[in-house]
Amino acid sequence: MRLILPLPGNEIFARRLADEGAWELGAMETRRFPDGETYVRILSEVKGKAVDLVCTLARPDDGFLRLIFAADAARNLGARQVNLVAPYLSYMRQDRRFQSGEAVSSRSFARLVSSSFDRLLTVDPHLHRYSALSPLYTMPTDTLHAAPLLADWIAAEVDKPLIIGPDEESDQWVSAIAARIGAPHAVLRKVRHGDRHVEVKLPDLSKWRGRQPVLADDIASSGNTLIEAARQLPLQGFVRPVVAVVHAIFADDSFQRLAALCDRIVSTDSVPHESSSVRLASLVAKAIASAPDDEGDLIRHRRPPEELDEVK
Ligand code: R5P
Repeated sequence: MRLILPLPGNEIFARRLADEGAWELGAMETRRFPDGETYVRILSEVKGKAVDLVCTLARPDDGFLRLIFAADAARNLGARQVNLVAPYLSYMRQDRRFQSGEAVSSRSFARLVSSSFDRLLTVDPHLHRYSALSPLYTMPTDTLHAAPLLADWIAAEVDKPLIIGPDEESDQWVSAIAARIGAPHAVLRKVRHGDRHVEVKLPDLSKWRGRQPVLADDIASSGNTLIEAARQLPLQGFVRPVVAVVHAIFADDSFQRLAALCDRIVSTDSVPHESSSVRLASLVAKAIASAPDDEGDLIRHRRPPEELDEVK
């Protein structure tokens, strides 16, 4: 038996997931104690069930303890498996020490998550210097890809698209999208000068003038990569771009600033956002349904079962 259990803010995604898989949808209560500490109560029966905690990890710092407490409570209440469904996985970009003394937060975060869950399922984690999650996460992980869904949206909505990646890293997504819909693609050059300061340079794209540029990327974080790319395109005689992005973080007012330069912006619902019209629930539900169910022993060795603290 499976229980889909949303953390606050993830109820809509969790309901879509539960509907897709015809699984039970659970509920929990959370609040802050007067001193600012976190209270968590699981309101659904978890005993003997595979429990999938649904929690996108955009802006994770405020709710992370709540997630860990919920995972621990589910296990302590007798869940057979405690999995994390995080459509957006945070802390993937500080994946090395760029300056002396820096925390390599990708590794620290992975260790924390791995110690609380049996399995992680996520969509397009930002894999740059690592090519997979396995060197970071010590539990089984499923990495899903949204490029086919974005590609299908573009094929249905955009006439004569030219798929453009704003930097070399985006080549993996734009080439997959372009190949699926038989469109041309190009990749721009980006130099990052700081968290919010990027410089984007365009190669000569004139042979595709007349096509609708579609900027595609994995994350809009500060939004400045896409903003700079969108600013440059009209300089080569292109119309305002369409933007297709997997994870719509869009810090501060970056969505409004980008929207002013674009024709349309679309994202997946990995992060709840006004642009999120491409739904991931079906993709994620299929992956949940096909995940092996026999990893219990492995997990139990890594983390022995606890005594249940029953209410008398
Ligand atoms: C490359 O680093 C990524 O694929 C994204 O282009 C980048 O993370 C976007 O960051 P920002 O929105 O802060 O420019």
